[in-house]
Amino acid sequence: MRLHVRLNGALAGAFVGLMIAVLADPASAQDQPAAKDTIFARKILMGAIDMNMDEIETMLAPEGQLMLADAQEHAETISTMLMAFPHLFPPPTNQWKPGADRDPATDTFANPGLWSNFADFYQRATEASKIAWSASRAKRAEEFRPLIGQLRQRCNACHALNLKTQ
Ligand code: HEC
Repeated sequence: MRLHVRLNGALAGAFVGLMIAVLADPASAQDQPAAKDTIFARKILMGAIDMNMDEIETMLAPEGQLMLADAQEHAETISTMLMAFPHLFPPPTNQWKPGADRDPATDTFANPGLWSNFADFYQRATEASKIAWSASRAKRAEEFRPLIGQLRQRCNACHALNLKTQ
């Protein structure tokens, strides 16, 4: 478990470092970070959210063993990351095109429709973040488990609308 916690810490540290680079790098304050850097940052962030969710769901699986305190740390990390996530979608990062040759590691799969209803996207991220936060504060496993079920539904619902599969 310690290893997972440390790994998350390292990932979070890498992310913070990247954000500082992304936010502070431009030579002049008016310059925006390059779209590809912002896309990369949000993909790393979503990937780290996914790893944390995987840790929790593994513990909640029938053969898994729930360690509530550890699972709650993961939920809190997810909550924080989901708050930052929707801030990484400036309009120049709207780059998905049908039929284009895309690199899954670096190219965006965000549906261009996301930008035509950004308020909805932002709200979905906020609501998912709040559910993760509630899970991080649940007093007992019986409260924690259904909140993670709700969180998973929020991941899937947002992807159904905003994520292109190829
Ligand atoms: C508010 C909407 C939203 C929510 C909530 C959300 N995602 Fe995502 N997710 C996205 C978008 C948009 C992308 C595509 C990002 C891109 O390619 O630029 C994405 C991409 C991903 C990816 C692919 C990452 C990659 O390598 O490109 C994974 C895995 C993922 N999400 C997992 C999750 C999990 C797990 C949750 C819930 C804990 C979650 N997401 C919640 C919008 C959301």
